[in-house]
Amino acid sequence: MISLLFPGSFDPFTRGHRDIARRASKICDKLYVACMNNSKKHYSFSLEERISMTKISLSEYDNIEVIGSDGLLVDIFKDLGCNAVVRGIRSESDFRYEAEMAMANRMLYPAYDVTLLPCRDDLSLISSSIVKEVASYGGDISRMVPSQIVEQVTDRLRKDGN
Ligand code: PNS
Repeated sequence: MISLLFPGSFDPFTRGHRDIARRASKICDKLYVACMNNSKKHYSFSLEERISMTKISLSEYDNIEVIGSDGLLVDIFKDLGCNAVVRGIRSESDFRYEAEMAMANRMLYPAYDVTLLPCRDDLSLISSSIVKEVASYGGDISRMVPSQIVEQVTDRLRKDGN
């Protein structure tokens, strides 16, 4: 049984994230999608909100389970007994960041490994930051985030102006 782990901030979950999850779910028996915290980021949505929106966005996939953790990635990787982590890359700078993160994680846990999936061309410019920027000005984000969460993301970001 091959199990993979797709971690991220998902603040909020985008169509780009969903495409990576969908493709990763086809190359394993079980995919865990983990909403986590990145100490360099200030979040617009709480961990609980991010978990809930990610769950709704992926509810159609039978072999995907959404979880959350505010701990270290290597700890859940170890606890779940996953074969590898999956991350999507959009650009060369994403690749550098992923290579650094993989090196640090391998120092913490030598059995750690990561598979990088290049994102689809038409989704390569979508990021959670762009979604937040557009939504905060009342723009249409329906092509950027899964349809199930468009309303929640729009309402929250427009009100808060985050
Ligand atoms: O979507 P992001 O912000 O690029 O995801 C980064 C994330 C959350 C996967 C990363 O920051 C992470 O693994 N956080 C958990 C804490 C941890 O293990 N940090 C060490 C990574 S080298």
